Amino acid sequence: MPLIKWRDSYSVGVAKFDLEHKVLVELINNIYSIIRNGDDQVIPEYEVAELISYTQAHFKGEEEAMEACGYEFSEEHKKIHAELEVEVLKFKEQLENFSDRVVSDLYLFLRNWLLNHILEEDMKYRECLNTCEDTRKRNKKISGYRHKTIHQYPFS
Ligand SMILES: [Fe+2]
Repeated sequence: MPLIKWRDSYSVGVAKFDLEHKVLVELINNIYSIIRNGDDQVIPEYEVAELISYTQAHFKGEEEAMEACGYEFSEEHKKIHAELEVEVLKFKEQLENFSDRVVSDLYLFLRNWLLNHILEEDMKYRECLNTCEDTRKRNKKISGYRHKTIHQYPFS
């Protein structure tokens, strides 16, 4: 199974969220690499915890932006985020009952979990957020962090 490769077509047009989505791709790829390359007893607990907390902070940021821009479907999008959070917590449980059989299923789950959400749901806010003054301010905030590595990127 190949790792997730970021494509320009995944861009939601908001620099801050594209950057965060790239970090999520990296976190998921790391988890898969650890599972694939490690022995059967390796459970990437730290990385999964990192994925969960990064996801929660990212969702919160998206929700704030959608509200600030008056996005019509922000309530619906929030519900989807809440469901995705439940799913990723279930993933964590499954990982605790780790077995060979579930490894590729779990990776597929995370891969689809992220890519489907970006491509189907996040794309819907693209136009609204891109014509919003608040987005310009958010994007301006990240320009100062260009020289830093992706993991040092703060959420504020
Ligand atoms: Fe989202």
